[in-house]
Amino acid sequence: MDARKALVTGASSGIGEATALRLAGEGYSLWLTYGTRQAETHAVAEQCREAGAPDVHVSQLDQRDSESISRLMNEMSETWGSLDVLVNNGGVLPYRTIDEITEEEWDFVLQTNARGTFFLTRACLPLLRAATGDRAIVNLSSLAGQVGGILAPFHYATSKAAILAISKSFARLLAPEGIRVNCVSPGFISTPMTMQLDDEMREELSAQVPLGSFGTPEDVSWIISSLVSPNARFVTGATYDINGGVRMD
Ligand SMILES: NC(=O)c1ccc[n+]([C@@H]2O[C@H](COP(=O)([O-])OP(=O)(O)OC[C@H]3O[C@@H](n4cnc5c(N)ncnc54)[C@H](OP(=O)(O)O)[C@@H]3O)[C@@H](O)[C@H]2O)c1
Repeated sequence: MDARKALVTGASSGIGEATALRLAGEGYSLWLTYGTRQAETHAVAEQCREAGAPDVHVSQLDQRDSESISRLMNEMSETWGSLDVLVNNGGVLPYRTIDEITEEEWDFVLQTNARGTFFLTRACLPLLRAATGDRAIVNLSSLAGQVGGILAPFHYATSKAAILAISKSFARLLAPEGIRVNCVSPGFISTPMTMQLDDEMREELSAQVPLGSFGTPEDVSWIISSLVSPNARFVTGATYDINGGVRMD
């Protein structure tokens, strides 16, 4: 049987890197994208090959830009022709107070996180439809999208709440075709994104976590790999919390 094919965006570090490595170990072929960190992503790709991925490609992607999305789709269509799994992981989080958020930055965050997730998912539909069997999309939301801004990143929280709605909308649209769409919603995870915070702030946030610490990228990647597995064939439109108990529903 051919290896399942997965596109993981934002694979240069953090959760995207951990997801790529986990899927590689499970025998997936991978298409990894980065925004700016090309060398880091090629290093991740090499590790994925060593971990067992039969076929690994790397492309630059600015998910705000429809031409960049089209270029990626053309490359993937010519090389693979179909896609089984999409992990919409790329995103940005500029830490700002309410007064520091400019109109330009509001648009930048919403365009990257929310608009990027919508347009990239829509662009992937022909490739997903060209595959047979279980197909799955996982989108990265956030605790901030569920409970509101933490450290007041209003634009980030808004973009991640939009991703919840985008995911459920695609889940409803695509269920009749057997394409599943789920969200993961991490809390505080140790990645370059949260390393922007100083030690004191990280300690303060850790103290708010019932399980007592930040999570790791691997804490998130195992849920992503479970959700994209055909074993999850009856799971769609769901949101999985990975937050050490900060939010219990
Ligand atoms: N860490 C957390 O606590 C946490 C919590 C909840 C949700 N999340 C979500 O998890 C996802 C991964 O975050 P992370 O923590 O692993 O952060 P990270 O290590 O900073 O990774 C972010 C990734 O997004 C890529 N990216 C940024 N702008 C992009 C653009 N315009 N187009 C395409 N790709 C772009 C980056 O590429 P380059 O670096 O190559 O530019 C990088 O690969 C994000 O969606 C984030 O919002 C994280």
